[in-house]
Amino acid sequence: MHVLMVTSEATPFAKSGGLADAVSALSRALRRLGHDVRIVLPLYGSVATEGLSRQPKALRVSLGSTTGDAAVLEGVLPDSDVPVYFIEHHQYFDREGIYGSKAQPDYDDNPERFSFFSRAAFRLCEALGWMPDVLHAHDWPTALVPVYARYEEPAFASAVSILTIHNLGYQGVYHKGVFPGLGLPWELFHGAGFEYYDKVNLLKAGITCADRLSTVSPTYAREIQKPELGCTLDGLLRVRSASLVGILNGVDGGDWDPSTDNYLPARYSVDDMRGKAVCKAALQAEAGLPITPDKPLIGMVSRLTDQKGIGELFGPTYGSAASMCLDMDMQFVVQGTGETWCEAEIARLSERIPNFKARVGYSERFAHLIEAGADFFMMPSRYEPCGLNQMYSLRYGTLPIAHRTGGLADTISNFNQETGNGTGFLFDELTPRSIYDTTGWAVWAYYNKPEQLAVMQKRAMMQEFSWDGPAREYEALYHGSSTAIANRPGVVETAKGQEKKKRNKPNNKKA
Ligand code: ADP
Ligand code: GLC
Repeated sequence: MHVLMVTSEATPFAKSGGLADAVSALSRALRRLGHDVRIVLPLYGSVATEGLSRQPKALRVSLGSTTGDAAVLEGVLPDSDVPVYFIEHHQYFDREGIYGSKAQPDYDDNPERFSFFSRAAFRLCEALGWMPDVLHAHDWPTALVPVYARYEEPAFASAVSILTIHNLGYQGVYHKGVFPGLGLPWELFHGAGFEYYDKVNLLKAGITCADRLSTVSPTYAREIQKPELGCTLDGLLRVRSASLVGILNGVDGGDWDPSTDNYLPARYSVDDMRGKAVCKAALQAEAGLPITPDKPLIGMVSRLTDQKGIGELFGPTYGSAASMCLDMDMQFVVQGTGETWCEAEIARLSERIPNFKARVGYSERFAHLIEAGADFFMMPSRYEPCGLNQMYSLRYGTLPIAHRTGGLADTISNFNQETGNGTGFLFDELTPRSIYDTTGWAVWAYYNKPEQLAVMQKRAMMQEFSWDGPAREYEALYHGSSTAIANRPGVVETAKGQEKKKRNKPNNKKA
């Protein structure tokens, strides 16, 4: 099949979180299954252009009454032959940030930027003379792709549109005044599902219009259909329930494998764990902690946002990290960036508490060292669509301490101190107290059940998290979607309604 991944992030070119890892790894895995997968991405200012080739002709992208030109640069996804096309538009994309800056986390013109990018994806296919069987969009920035596919791009009627929800917490909600800039008639404000408390909600429209929906773990697929984690779209997701599937992400074995990881001072595997102790000492030394091989070391790498449970863990008046470090004989090292209060708080704790060290910043290398050198990995997420870090830590024999939610519930099994079973330490309610207690339990097990923990580590490292299984599930989703094309509901009546209805007649071209 011809699969076009339309995405705002893909490693190693542009990343703010796990979306980037997931898109690149899924693309490689689908390619291994023999599909012609291609990625299209904006050319942000941070993307290095050396080695990219420029296509001779620019794309002409029209959005309603406005038209803009975009050049296309082409590269290849490392460790694969997957082509990556970068859409160059200086005014929109030549900025450091993907979605915003520290001062302005969500650029004012994001609807314009990402509608332009989403529309450019169609022009790109035409310019390449390459028609996709699958248009696969990811999260709110490219949620317009299924909308354009259904209402504005008749030549793509035989392509199935898939929208993967990596995080329902970010929906792309904007003032209604941005709507005309999307290049769609006002009838579609309601008709395509944009309307959201009199604002524009890009993700909601994508959820309404995509032929099929997926999210990144089976548990999260259920959770988002309930009010607690449905982020106000649970009703719509229940309506679309039959079209929604949860497919767990995998781990890219090339990037995250302790037996080949070049970021580490020593490598290790299930058969020879000695390198893990070397990594622990290196981590302690680099973090500025006493080098004590026999003290439990807890690691954490995270975006410091409310989703990740930072209020409960680091909240200045009721957080648990400080009291855990003061009360328990352990060490704690954190790397993260995010909310200003939290960055300040962890820096302050780092100065005051000798067994707590924080690095405010982003470093791929140090993230790998934490995954390898720590004994436990802290992940108290309020919600977690999938979560990659706990899977990395399992592969590295670093047992997660986590909230039983979303993908964390699907990938970690709880320690049973009678049988020694399990791969981590889970709690059910996210409160400072439960983080404290569960961490206490892990620390207790470290000192009192070392043989059980050693077996757990190996069990964790042997879990299968390859992308091959998930890629096959996506393949089945793509194949099974031809019925969705046949059963597409009629489009809303617009001024050009009749004409558009005709255009959307089912086309049963085989994917
Ligand atoms: P999310 O996408 O919600 O942030 P995931 O667990 O899916 O959560 O993915 C997070 C990814 O971002 C991982 O690859 C993780 O290592 C990386 N990451 C997050 N913060 C940092 C940081 N400060 N330094 C290095 N890597 C980070
Ligand atoms: C999002 C989610 C995370 C998931 C990632 C990749 O950023 O927060 O849980 O692992 O996307 O799908």
